[in-house]
Amino acid sequence: MYLTREEERIIAGQYGAGMAKSLELLVALGEVFGAEKLVPVESAHVSGVSYKNLGDAGLEWLEDQAKLGAKAKVRATLNPAGMDMTRWREMNVPEKFAEGQLRVIRAFEALGIEPTCTCTPYLVGNVPRLGSQIAWAESSAICYSNSVLGARTNRESGPTTIASAITGLTPLYEYRLDENRLPGRLIEVEAKLRDPIDYSALGYVTGKLVGTNVPYFRGLGNPSLESLKTMGAALATSGSVALWHGEGVTPEAEKVKPHLREVEKITVEEKNLEEAREKFTCEVADPITCIGCPHCSLHEVGEVAKLVEGKHVGKKLWVFTSRGVHAEARRKGYVGQIEDAGGKVYVDTCMVVAPLKEMGWKEVALNSFKGAQYSANMGLKTRMGTARELVEEVLK
Ligand code: F3S
Repeated sequence: MYLTREEERIIAGQYGAGMAKSLELLVALGEVFGAEKLVPVESAHVSGVSYKNLGDAGLEWLEDQAKLGAKAKVRATLNPAGMDMTRWREMNVPEKFAEGQLRVIRAFEALGIEPTCTCTPYLVGNVPRLGSQIAWAESSAICYSNSVLGARTNRESGPTTIASAITGLTPLYEYRLDENRLPGRLIEVEAKLRDPIDYSALGYVTGKLVGTNVPYFRGLGNPSLESLKTMGAALATSGSVALWHGEGVTPEAEKVKPHLREVEKITVEEKNLEEAREKFTCEVADPITCIGCPHCSLHEVGEVAKLVEGKHVGKKLWVFTSRGVHAEARRKGYVGQIEDAGGKVYVDTCMVVAPLKEMGWKEVALNSFKGAQYSANMGLKTRMGTARELVEEVLK
């Protein structure tokens, strides 16, 4: 791979061991994928934050990185952690887990990475520009930034996003190049799309059908931001989708349209979405209702608040969002309305990255196919419904 003089100086250690090690990792990655050179990135979004996934080995690795003294030179945000950083006791998170999680966050902060702890960094100020190169991890955020915003990232990992944050660079390959952003399948949507959960189901069904191909959707209607974020999350869960196009919806769709002539067409019907919904709808006795996968937008928190205002939540209702959205939702009175009714609005975490088993969870009710798939993988019973249906159930 071609390296500039400056990049050679970094590898030689002129800017410290942290920079050198980070660049070595990116060069090795680029060589594996046949990249010709490195390019600058405008931002990074780092995953691998929950102590549940990192464990002590991951924590020590992070602390070792921080000791090398390098700091992020581009804007870098952080994915959700395993708990709400201030209300973890209320969530029933074990003390030992909390200690580990707090150390993880301190290590990231020492690396100059903002502890945003959200999978929707694009809702709290980390908004990539059309065509910009970025280094993002978190499959749902990758799908959103590549497809809806038209930025360019590969499916990065925790370590490669840290390395890109520190060096401001990434190897140029795969989705960073025009030729790899072309559609691989045409998806004709015949199913009715009325609610974000229908888009989530569509993403789940399509991800299974296309695998690593780039899907081009026709018939998406006029999806809301909330529908787009949950659809991408599901696409990346059942398949390995990092990028999709939507006719009349996403910024690159018109440009890549001429290539549709060469691709296989798949039709998605109402019955396909129904089957997906049934797959995750089990008999449950006392589920915890979780809204916020991906993390809720202000609009979604507001919708829950409207539904519960002045009423009593008889079962557990947990809403997950980012700190930025939480602050705005509190200002607007939404958080107060939900918590006065008996629900909770937690930040920094979600039902997938929290240590649910240790917290005693057995059943969840949710409106996200990503959340449902991961919950089922953890052995939990799931029940699906729209946000409205689920919230109305806990009011009974
Ligand atoms: Fe976000 Fe957790 Fe869902 S990280 S996309 S809320 S599984």
